[in-house]
Amino acid sequence: MCGIVGYIGKRDVAPLLLEGLQRLEYRGYDSAGIAVQTRGSGLKSVKAKGRVRDLEAKLPKRFAGTAGIAHTRWATHGAPNDVNAHPHLDPEGKVAVVHNGIIDNASDLRAKLAADGVELVSETDTEVLAHLVARAQADTLEGRVQEALRHIDGTYGIAVLHADFPDRIVVARNGSPVVLGIGEHEMLVASDVAALVSHTRQVVTLNDGEMATIKADDYRTYTTEGSRTSTSPETVEWAAESYDMGGHDTYMHKEISEQADSVDRVLRGRIDDRFATVHLGGLNMDAREARGVRRVKILGCGSAYHAGMIGAQLIEEVARIPADAEPASEFRYRNAVVDPDCLYIAVSQSGETYDTLAAVQELKRKGARVLGVVNVVGSAIARETDGGVYVHAGPEVCVVSTKCFTNTAVAFALLALHLGRIRDLSVADGKRLIAGLRRLPEQIAEILDGEEAIRRLAAEYAQARSMMFVGRVRGYPVAREASLKLKEVSYIHAEAYPASELKHGPLALIEPAVPTVAILPDDELLEKNRATLEEIKARHGRILAVAHAEQEKADHTIVVPRNEVELDPILMGLPLQLLAYHTALCLDRDIDKPRNLAKSVTVE
Ligand code: F6R
Repeated sequence: MCGIVGYIGKRDVAPLLLEGLQRLEYRGYDSAGIAVQTRGSGLKSVKAKGRVRDLEAKLPKRFAGTAGIAHTRWATHGAPNDVNAHPHLDPEGKVAVVHNGIIDNASDLRAKLAADGVELVSETDTEVLAHLVARAQADTLEGRVQEALRHIDGTYGIAVLHADFPDRIVVARNGSPVVLGIGEHEMLVASDVAALVSHTRQVVTLNDGEMATIKADDYRTYTTEGSRTSTSPETVEWAAESYDMGGHDTYMHKEISEQADSVDRVLRGRIDDRFATVHLGGLNMDAREARGVRRVKILGCGSAYHAGMIGAQLIEEVARIPADAEPASEFRYRNAVVDPDCLYIAVSQSGETYDTLAAVQELKRKGARVLGVVNVVGSAIARETDGGVYVHAGPEVCVVSTKCFTNTAVAFALLALHLGRIRDLSVADGKRLIAGLRRLPEQIAEILDGEEAIRRLAAEYAQARSMMFVGRVRGYPVAREASLKLKEVSYIHAEAYPASELKHGPLALIEPAVPTVAILPDDELLEKNRATLEEIKARHGRILAVAHAEQEKADHTIVVPRNEVELDPILMGLPLQLLAYHTALCLDRDIDKPRNLAKSVTVE
């Protein structure tokens, strides 16, 4: 959700910033802009509505400089247009600011500035920051930014350029990620390592309340109050190529295709055959504490929430601990009772989703133990939680989540097995589940090999007006996720229901133009699920089944390999990721950047 990149060094900055913006475009793509510290003639800025390529087309030939900041936007305050795009400058054009996050008291600040005779040109919250820095009195740029930030309520990740301080960029973080890239005689800053890794893998991640000054040859970090902080660079786990498309036409296709490897990675080094269990060193919870857990509550948003639903099912079934999942976005607002015997688990790919982070912070304030199941190492949620399980899906660039969803579900299977084996899951069941987990990568590869058949099915279903997705108990979270995937990437309206709920209302929607995708694992509920197919057929509905064998009542069946009943849902989601992908392709959608969406929702 909005991307920031900045550079100071010896190289020509504009091409470098554009490349960084392209890598960040998945975070927001309604407008973009750049400001450069030129030699001798102050700051120059260019902004454009649309994609980074539109900004590139607008850049004048002579746009030279060796320090600059840039931004790709996902609008929150003010329509996407040239004026509202970042960077925002003060009227004299001396200060340029790029900002991620939301300034809650922007209306008050705008009113005060206007009363002081300041002419505000945009509708954004960010513009006030440029004016506040320009009006600040301190001698240093650092002091001026600190002075400005004292007026701000809300969240921010910012980078500031000032024509009078051409040797530096000042950055600050409160709720929106800021990462420094430490190079040789050059420094970078970005909201996401994706924009840095092609230049350096040495990074420093700022904490909330922290600021930094970067110069070509050094950097320093300090708090918004001015006290020095000590930080040393860490090496980014992933090489620059991991952020490329790697020969695929879209990131979505690349990320779907990677899942045999990414699932192998989440399992690697964690299985203990001798005791038929798994080791999750990051939990920071000993066996006695784990045995004391009376309830598990899983919190996440969107696909992370759906992966959490699979997790809750697994924990309840395998470890026999009552468990449920709830959207973090709802939980944080309902003043929930915080139960000291409950283990709370926050799930997030980015580790930055604001609603999930706010739920974690509220729980911690009330004394709860909170674990994280997170993909991005060192992200805010990973750092706020008391421990957790990294899902090791690797960089996920497509706005819609695929491989991270699958890896998160597998991480929950590991957690369920761990909790089960220190409670009353038998050695035999432990071994059975471990064998099942080990089969997953091969079975995933087998499912993905069936892509051509799914492509043909997508061509058939792409004309649907709306689609229903149904599943029962283990199959229901799969239906929820598949329906989200289809709607966000193809824009076909889709609904997910527990199959048992169909006759309580949604059956009214069934007709030939509204096909149903039914998830039918071969478990104790198979016959009940088959009865649901009868109900749909009786209403002339078309059916696409995902099952372990051909379904007589269905018009089409996608047959997936059988694993263990507890683990089957993990596999059943995969063909439906491909179905969403190929449906979107048939409809000529912008697959990696669906309309109105952005990766990592770091605002409320
Ligand atoms: C859907 C999707 C979103 C995210 C949600 C949470 O494909 O990607 O629903 O799952 O915004 O994001 P994270 O997992 O980063 O917290």
